[in-house]
Amino acid sequence: MIYRTLRALLFLLPAELAHRLGLWLLARLGHRRRLASRLRARLAPPLPELASSCFGLSFPSPVGLAAGLDKEGRAAAGLFALGFGFVEVGTLTPRPQPGNPRPRLFRVVRDQALVNRMGFNNPGVEAAGRWLGTRPWPGPLGVNIGKNRDTPEERAADDYETALSAVRSFADYVVVNVSSPNTPGLRRLQDAERLVPLLERLVAANRGAGRRPLLLKVSPDLEPPALEELVDHALAAKVDGLIATNTTLARPEPPWGAYREAGGVSGRPLAARSRACLEIIVKRAAGRLPVISVGGVFTSDDVFDRLRRGASLVQVYTSFIYGGPSMPGRLCRDLALRMRREGFRSPGELSSAATG
Ligand code: FNR
Repeated sequence: MIYRTLRALLFLLPAELAHRLGLWLLARLGHRRRLASRLRARLAPPLPELASSCFGLSFPSPVGLAAGLDKEGRAAAGLFALGFGFVEVGTLTPRPQPGNPRPRLFRVVRDQALVNRMGFNNPGVEAAGRWLGTRPWPGPLGVNIGKNRDTPEERAADDYETALSAVRSFADYVVVNVSSPNTPGLRRLQDAERLVPLLERLVAANRGAGRRPLLLKVSPDLEPPALEELVDHALAAKVDGLIATNTTLARPEPPWGAYREAGGVSGRPLAARSRACLEIIVKRAAGRLPVISVGGVFTSDDVFDRLRRGASLVQVYTSFIYGGPSMPGRLCRDLALRMRREGFRSPGELSSAATG
């Protein structure tokens, strides 16, 4: 109710300004550690039936925040305080970069969607490491990495390796983002001839004492055979998991309003594609590769449905913008209630029917 009033005011502002204001407030909250942990205890008290482990990490709940909201990682503590079970920051690139010219973020309120062409605006891996390396978190911290826009395609792997070695010290898991539509040529890294050497190189660079679970984030716009092939390559390279999906370039026909803007669409219109990708991956991977499902997840029933279809964990972004700060806690409470009602004792039990 309070957020509905606040949202009406925030939505009067240009989308990126509202976004920055929200992140600034969350960063302030994160600096007040006692307040942040009291708020977390209140908004999202621990629910043992939501705890799970995945790629060797313990997750207090299966509902996390997707990459791109907190690109810098300055608001991570505040975001955990709202009750997310895990938070993914980034995309971080080796060097800082400003991203695309503004405006670059648009709302489609009628569809509960966003269109963005941010273009990896971020402070670079080193700067982020300075403020992310200093504290323990109430759940896993994921770090999503990409290439700088001005790095030529043939040197893309150098960027990923540089970023990986810089973030390993403060990331609990690392995500290789080859699926953003807003960096020219990035999605071509999903093609086998580029993907296979990239993954082999990163998996090799990730060996040793500082090894972190390495995940690959995929586009919802791959045709099913290409997605199946990508699963095979991910398995062969021994990555630890997939994140499906990033934003889509698909548009309603004919495009209207903000859909006419260039960029990736997220939120409700992405749900069906994201779900279909999850099903293809789960079927192909046959229990050998954990999947984090993201795209158009708005309710606890959506979370339940993604877990039931074989996801190990679920992330949200756009629904958090529309739903507000009480949303992560609400999703967790309602998910736990439904699991209890239907006799599931853990998220793993829910997804195991699909993953075998
Ligand atoms: C994103 N997303 C994203 N993903 C990523 O891997 N790196 C990034 O930097 C960003 N940046 C970003 C900015 C904005 C404004 C949005 C809306 C989204 C994609 C995001 O993590 C997620 O995959 C999609 O938004 C789909 O989930 P939702 O929003 O439908 O829950």
